[in-house]
Amino acid sequence: MKLCIALDLPSKKENLALLGSLKFNEQVWVKVGLRSFIRDGAEFLTEIKALNPQFKIFLDLKLYDIPNTMGDSVESIATLNVDMLTIHASSGREAMLEVMARLKAFSNPPLVMAVTALTSFDENSFFEVYHTGLETQVLEFAKMAKECGVNGVVCSCAESLVVKTQLGDEFLTLTPAIRPFGESSGDQKRVATLQDAKDARSDFIVVGRPIYKAENPRKVVETILENL
Ligand code: C5P
Repeated sequence: MKLCIALDLPSKKENLALLGSLKFNEQVWVKVGLRSFIRDGAEFLTEIKALNPQFKIFLDLKLYDIPNTMGDSVESIATLNVDMLTIHASSGREAMLEVMARLKAFSNPPLVMAVTALTSFDENSFFEVYHTGLETQVLEFAKMAKECGVNGVVCSCAESLVVKTQLGDEFLTLTPAIRPFGESSGDQKRVATLQDAKDARSDFIVVGRPIYKAENPRKVVETILENL
């Protein structure tokens, strides 16, 4: 299991300072989300690699658009030297196939993970949008993503084990909303601890606020790494 640290702080300076305060560890990936990418652009990715070229970058833009636009976008992302990206599974089969086809042209393409149900959804709020049960739909999204050649899905720990059991360990799961040691959940609904993530055979956990809001982020990261 790998740890993705969400770089969701209010400024580039603070995000880089956070990274600079951590000891490099190959189990640590860094997640650049919409806020940082909109504000700081591709240059931010270069600066992360300048801190340590071994940092693996997960660019979490959660693409959702028509197939051609999705294909064009992932081609652009693939030139940015990132290691993992996200799209929405609900963008559909054609879009996912297009994304994977476009990435075939690259010798070292990023891993593609399809978002199933955002971890800020609970059963009721998910039903309001999708008119179906959350767990059933996560598995349906995951099956479709696998058929399209996508590398794995983003889901909560509550669904990861079912996905792994049904689709096999090669198909990756990435689980956000981790509160490693039971910290406050904030806006996240389907939260899980580090132990839950292990039990759910998650390949990547994403941790944001429990690290960057901690008094001593380095200590939190070290404790997480000791317990991975
Ligand atoms: O602060 P927290 O640990 O809740 O941060 C979780 C991070 O993971 C945020 O950057 C959020 O955008 C992202 N994420 C998520 N749920 C998903 C996909 C990504 O929370 N399904």
